[in-house]
Amino acid sequence: MSDKLIIFDTTLRDGEQSPGASMTRDEKLRIAKQLEKLRVDVIEAGFAASSKGYFEAVRAIAAAIKDSTVASLARANDRDISRAAEALKGANSMRIHTFIATSALHMEKKLRMTPEQVFEQAKLAVRFARKFTDNIEFSPEDGSRSEVDFLCRVLEAVITEGARTINIADTVGYAVPERFAELIRTLRERIPNSDKAVWSVHCHNDLGMAVANSLAGVMAGARQVECTINGLGERAGNTSLEEIVMAVRTRRDFFNLDIGVDTTQIVPTSKLVSGITGFAVQPNKAIVGANAFAHASGIHQDGVLKQRDTYEIMRAEDVGWSTNKIVLGKLSGRNAFKQRLHDLGIELDSETEVNAAFQRFKDLADVKSEIFDEDIQALVSDQAVHHEPDEHYRLISMAQRSETGERPHARVTLSIDGKEETGESDGNGPVDATLKAIESKVRSGTELLLYSVNAITTGTESQGEVTVRLAKSGRIVNGVGADPDIVIASAKAYLGALNKLLSRGDRLNPQTGTI
Ligand code: KIV
Ligand code: ZN
Repeated sequence: MSDKLIIFDTTLRDGEQSPGASMTRDEKLRIAKQLEKLRVDVIEAGFAASSKGYFEAVRAIAAAIKDSTVASLARANDRDISRAAEALKGANSMRIHTFIATSALHMEKKLRMTPEQVFEQAKLAVRFARKFTDNIEFSPEDGSRSEVDFLCRVLEAVITEGARTINIADTVGYAVPERFAELIRTLRERIPNSDKAVWSVHCHNDLGMAVANSLAGVMAGARQVECTINGLGERAGNTSLEEIVMAVRTRRDFFNLDIGVDTTQIVPTSKLVSGITGFAVQPNKAIVGANAFAHASGIHQDGVLKQRDTYEIMRAEDVGWSTNKIVLGKLSGRNAFKQRLHDLGIELDSETEVNAAFQRFKDLADVKSEIFDEDIQALVSDQAVHHEPDEHYRLISMAQRSETGERPHARVTLSIDGKEETGESDGNGPVDATLKAIESKVRSGTELLLYSVNAITTGTESQGEVTVRLAKSGRIVNGVGADPDIVIASAKAYLGALNKLLSRGDRLNPQTGTI
């Protein structure tokens, strides 16, 4: 008999805590809808008490999602829990996820509370949350570094209060698989009412062991894994959803667990998240990296051609990789375009958006003879990112001059809050000149932390996808832009990041309680 492994996705909460990964309400909603299509069991939509914007995002997701449970994080206090409950009110199925640190280090130095106070607060928090729902998850933060006797006491008490899921957090990524499994086993054995809760694991990747630790936890009886798309998350990230799902699915002989996820939606979800957050996926990343299914060596290619499973343990199409074939061209009509959007699982909100995307496709087809699925995905996410209603800056036109022996020069015309402005500048190269021309008008005072260009498909005709990371007053944001002209893509990415800086309110970090 096999059990089910619950997939709890926290891309929109823990993933968003990565510096620069902040998203707008609409971006979160798009990701949440895609996660629902991926059929994850639980979507942690955010930390509702963190700010008004975060509250609204959780509320919008709770109202829109029908098939997955929607959760909000809440610290173990009445205000956070009430805000979470309020934001989740419209959900078909809701969960309040409350937490408090239980390691001696965190209790003494961060919370400045005694173990007894933490014990009481954990109990009261779960008791209070029960007023709103019986679907309550409790996490002992820094659980993997907590003293086991104390952990047993707290967890027994919160289960008695009604917590249905107990999530052991390896908050700082310190665990090693054998020890982490031993911890889960010990807690399940020693806590008298442990069978009244589903055991869950939440592992960070600081030592590159998040997936290994989570799977060790599963072998010790955990039946929920908390994870994120592309392993996004604080510092080195969280457990990668795609790796957990495909490990359990591919090695069903070993894990003997069922998973509800539709694996063919993995790659589209990965692309959506990287497009929106600006966190590019490394080419050799398992499952979703561009090279994950590419066989470069002649021996491997020969083997795969003779019999696929000589070198392939999974099929690229089973995780949603398209065959990278030319799908559309200059002569393709609106219906063929719409059908391709449908086949790719892309749903635009209105006919106006389909028309706008089709126009962008036609413009692209004018300059690029072969249009691949990846081009369509980039075009749609570029449209969503650069046509936000609260857009302050928009690119109208640009021109550069660069010639051997001459210093490059750029002229950029922008719409700044609806008013047209033109800036000019020299620079070390056309990109530098363009970004300086923009700065001559916006004077953002930001620091450029990262600039990177990635070819979306192969060949020199490919669209370039540019990621820009900016910092200002302690806030970090990413902007992404795609275009066959990488200088235009750079300008779009830069303006996208500036728009994010202007449109986002401050929010609390759940763990530190600071902005
Ligand atoms: O890493 C962590 O401890 C968390 C908890 C809130 C579960 O994200
Ligand atoms: Zn975490």
